[in-house]
Amino acid sequence: MRKPLIAGNWKMNKTVSESIEFARDFVKAVSNVTDRDILICPPFTSLYPVSEIFNGTNVRLGAQNMYFEEKGAFTGEISPLMLKDAGCSFVILGHSERRHIFGESNELINKKVLSAVSHGLVPVLCVGELLEEREEGKTFDVVGSQLEEGLKGVSADSEFVIAYEPVWAIGTGKTATPELAEEVHRFLREKLSELFGSKKAESVRILYGGSVKPENVDGLMAMNNIDGALVGGASLKVESFVKIVNFGR
Ligand code: PGA
Repeated sequence: MRKPLIAGNWKMNKTVSESIEFARDFVKAVSNVTDRDILICPPFTSLYPVSEIFNGTNVRLGAQNMYFEEKGAFTGEISPLMLKDAGCSFVILGHSERRHIFGESNELINKKVLSAVSHGLVPVLCVGELLEEREEGKTFDVVGSQLEEGLKGVSADSEFVIAYEPVWAIGTGKTATPELAEEVHRFLREKLSELFGSKKAESVRILYGGSVKPENVDGLMAMNNIDGALVGGASLKVESFVKIVNFGR
């Protein structure tokens, strides 16, 4: 059975002091949760101070992006070694905002995924179609190639997480219906099975992201192939994120 993973993506929100305040309250509120994994991905500047609070708790720390090189003349970038050193065990890669605002290609994202895996960071590879791609019937083509190209060269024994985030549902308040999301999750699992074999495909967690809230998380999590959530806006408040972590109760 796949253990659910509930992940918060703070995006470009929260100062160091705001992050610390959230982290202190949050670890207390979820300290008894053992049947699901919990991950928070703050901005780079908050990683280390938050890691000191998460250390020894059931909350894991992740980054929202990284560069694939270990060090050197890459002004403005952050390396996998730096993320590990700051206490991260996960890293979100290929988020739609990275793809569409910063022009990241599948090829670049693949280099990052390979680098993350080789440094012992678990990549959360995001895939998702634009509204016009959905309307043109291209959803499976788009997410299928994002998955395949993003994971090129990754071995079946490395750990990775997939997040399906339809771009039209991110930050818009429009969630995909559980059935519509499940259709894509099922497709992604079949594709994983073609690429890595069915045993690996059954073990990979596929998260849904895009306007997940306390009110809609139960319906999504009831689907067979939805193994967790990647939560933006609703992860910024302790109260709403704690409710999402405790889905189904
Ligand atoms: P949202 O963001 O929950 O605010 O829609 C999700 C994401 O982009 O990861």
